[in-house]
Amino acid sequence: MFAARRRRFLDAMEPGSVALLLGARLATRSNDTHFPFRQDSDFHYLTGFDHPNAAAVLRKDGGPAYTLFVEARDPDAETWTGYRPGVEGALADYGADEAFPHSELLGKLPGLLERSRRVHHVLGRDARVDAKLVELADLARMRSRAGIAAPEAIVDPRALLHEMRLYKDADELDVMRRAAEVTREAHEAAARMAREGVYEYELAAALDFTFRRRGGAGPAYESIVGGGANATVLHYVANDQPLRDGTLVLIDAGAEYAGYASDVTRCYPVGGRFTGAAREVYEVVLAAQEAALEVSRPGNTLDDVHEAALRTLVEGMVALGLLTGSADEAIQSGSYKTFYMHRTSHWLGLDVHDAGVYAIDGKPRPLEPGMVFTVEPGLYVPLREEKAPAHLRGIGVRIEDDVAVTDDGHENLTASIPKRVDDVEAWCRGA
Ligand code: GLY
Ligand code: MN
Ligand code: MN
Repeated sequence: MFAARRRRFLDAMEPGSVALLLGARLATRSNDTHFPFRQDSDFHYLTGFDHPNAAAVLRKDGGPAYTLFVEARDPDAETWTGYRPGVEGALADYGADEAFPHSELLGKLPGLLERSRRVHHVLGRDARVDAKLVELADLARMRSRAGIAAPEAIVDPRALLHEMRLYKDADELDVMRRAAEVTREAHEAAARMAREGVYEYELAAALDFTFRRRGGAGPAYESIVGGGANATVLHYVANDQPLRDGTLVLIDAGAEYAGYASDVTRCYPVGGRFTGAAREVYEVVLAAQEAALEVSRPGNTLDDVHEAALRTLVEGMVALGLLTGSADEAIQSGSYKTFYMHRTSHWLGLDVHDAGVYAIDGKPRPLEPGMVFTVEPGLYVPLREEKAPAHLRGIGVRIEDDVAVTDDGHENLTASIPKRVDDVEAWCRGA
């Protein structure tokens, strides 16, 4: 799989070019402790090599096609931090044509690049590598007067790579279905805990527990568990308040499984029943989400998906008394943005906000089979919003599913997580 991706990437590169890709490093958490290692998504996509401090060189200049630089085996270090594949493993298990200790990267770069016209490389990740490339390009330019080929450009490999990542193949879709399944279980565990006095972090812990217990790496992004008015804070991650009866708790949380993210939002009624104004707002968002799913198919664009959600949301805002005038006027003027200030969709994959451009030549790109994205309209009435009817203030609702485009429509990867009012209530009761 990784070899096939490297081949496609190489095929897309211009003859005479070389790509230099850097893996992620360990990030310091505090003093001498680190965050759990997470490989750079592009590096993982092409190599599957998920250990710190690696680099890869892919050549289309006649040299060995695939060179890996990795941390060398080191029995003393491995006593503390565990197995590393080393140079031997890079060759035997990761398909490298040649492999070297990472410490030799800077020294070997001149030789690796001497025949290349273009170097694909993401600047800004490692100052020493960047400086070396600039030095080599300068040197080569001088030598080019003597008739030796010189790199003419350092180009960003992400344009090619992210176009590849945008289209998920059957194996990737299988993994994403599994991520969705783990996420379903986690939401179910948390939904059942939505009771008066339970703290938001208790639900977040239940989510984490299930993600990990099912073999996921953990949450694909910081879980959002917002009770009551905390749901109106889009990226609320404090998760430290008690839940109150009669309110909703918004949970935006998804597992990372085998590298792939799921990203799901549901709102659960604390105490088990949707009531009053919260229920009215919920029904509006649900209708908007269903309208957006309705148009999620090949040929349409994410703008179409957004506009379908927006139309239903804004009509609901008018009906609820949040906006005066007509829905058309509100859409024209943008007055709805007080209550719906984000877009409806983003690509989803190895990253929660995944790779891939949204527009081509300034126009939203048509959806095609294999693309995966979220559908996540919301309606948020901040407590401080004095223009809003008092009974609606402090209510926030978002409903988010993950959708894969198929030949003739879409597959909702997270459809098994309930969202109709009756189904959600039954789920919270454990029925
Ligand atoms: N949880 C981030 C998002 O929904 O985009
Ligand atoms: Mn989300
Ligand atoms: Mn999302």
